Amino acid sequence: MLLRLLVLLLIPGAVFSQKTPDLAKIGRFIFTDTSLSNPPGQACLTCHHPDHAFADPRRVSPGANAALKGNRNAPSLMYAALIPPFAYEDIFLPDGTEIFAWEGGLFHDGRAKDLFAQVSQPFFEKHEMNLKNKAELAARLRKSPSLKSLPESTLRDDAKLTYLAFRSLVEFLKDPLFRPFDAPFDRYRAGDKTALSLSQKRGLEIYRTTAGCADCHFLEPQNWSHPLLSDFGYDNLGAPALGKIDPGLFAVTKDPADLGKFRAPSLRNVELTAPYLHNGSIATLREVLEFYNKRDLEPERWGVTNYPETVNHDDLGDLGLTEDEITDLLHFLHAFTDDCVKNKKTTFPAPPKNTPTTGSLKLFFPDYTHRLDPSFE
Ligand code: HEC
Ligand code: HEC
Repeated sequence: MLLRLLVLLLIPGAVFSQKTPDLAKIGRFIFTDTSLSNPPGQACLTCHHPDHAFADPRRVSPGANAALKGNRNAPSLMYAALIPPFAYEDIFLPDGTEIFAWEGGLFHDGRAKDLFAQVSQPFFEKHEMNLKNKAELAARLRKSPSLKSLPESTLRDDAKLTYLAFRSLVEFLKDPLFRPFDAPFDRYRAGDKTALSLSQKRGLEIYRTTAGCADCHFLEPQNWSHPLLSDFGYDNLGAPALGKIDPGLFAVTKDPADLGKFRAPSLRNVELTAPYLHNGSIATLREVLEFYNKRDLEPERWGVTNYPETVNHDDLGDLGLTEDEITDLLHFLHAFTDDCVKNKKTTFPAPPKNTPTTGSLKLFFPDYTHRLDPSFE
């Protein structure tokens, strides 16, 4: 007994680390591990590439089996851990009326309630990593050098091992590198009035007033210390139709009013995440602005859309912006680019030193109620 106490006092780190593995570190390894697909060769990083703020520059991503493709563009994973869970929220309008609207959730259509529900899916999608089931994932994880140090009881058990892999990916996506708030716009908000150029300052005014962007891509913090530049609500912008018809939020709610609606994304690092919209149908950021500005005036330029009946004509389509105003707005969108993401020197960006640790923000993450598997506590 005394000996055991002594050992605990002398090497608490060693004893503790065996019980509580560094999940974010394991998650980081899994994220880059190309042995977890069938055939091997594809990892999360293949479609969520750090050189593009963890989005995919290809319109749609080929799967591990390259003959199979999905029909949506892979979104950025920057700030994805801060997306609120899928919920039917009540909203009070300025005149006091209460309305309800769908908000949050992961994937363009919100079909994963939260990040934990999301991260397990790519492994088993035919057009992504293409594994058959958890047993196949567990067998591959067991061979991975990064997991060798886990307790035997975990390595042996398919359910425990895959649970640990999913929790680890969630912890990795909560890492400071995915939430650096290191953009010129953040410095401007913190009081550095030189952080934005004159053109960007004009763009900010346009964003906030005539263009109405801030009505959906919020400039003020909501559920986090900094603004995430989205209300995470759902809308049908009338994106140009490409490939398979995609019902969007309707697939989740079965409400015909939700046909063709997709979640408004955060605009953080949007400069780096071309192509745009859920189906990658618009190639450049300037064209997205031209689409918002004149969609309804030049329908032949943008072509047909899948669900014209639910398209939003109140907030966009004919904004009346001049070419110079579009340029200012475009420059302002560049102020959402994190320095550490744009100028990174290694595979993953290095966030500013003072970025809070995941532990210190534990209760603020939408997934804070998730508990570790009891065997790790
Ligand atoms: C073959 C390409 C591909 C691979 C591999 C892939 N993803 Fe994705 N990812 C996508 C696409 C496409 C979407 C959007 C799909 C949708 O909305 O239906 C997506 C969506 C996501 C989202 C939701 C983001 C949001 O804003 O809603 C997260 C989180 C994510 N992926 C994490 C991962 C993780 C973790 C892995 C590895 C286990 C992974 N992805 C592997 C293509 C890929
Ligand atoms: C009524 C709400 C609403 C307003 C107002 C709005 N947006 Fe959006 N925005 C969305 C939604 C919803 C999407 C996703 C649509 C999709 O994927 O089909 C989106 C997507 C985008 C994208 C594509 C991002 C990506 O990663 O693919 C950009 C860029 C963008 N918006 C910028 C703007 C700008 C600039 C303005 C002002 C001119 C604006 N938005 C006004 C709701 C809105």
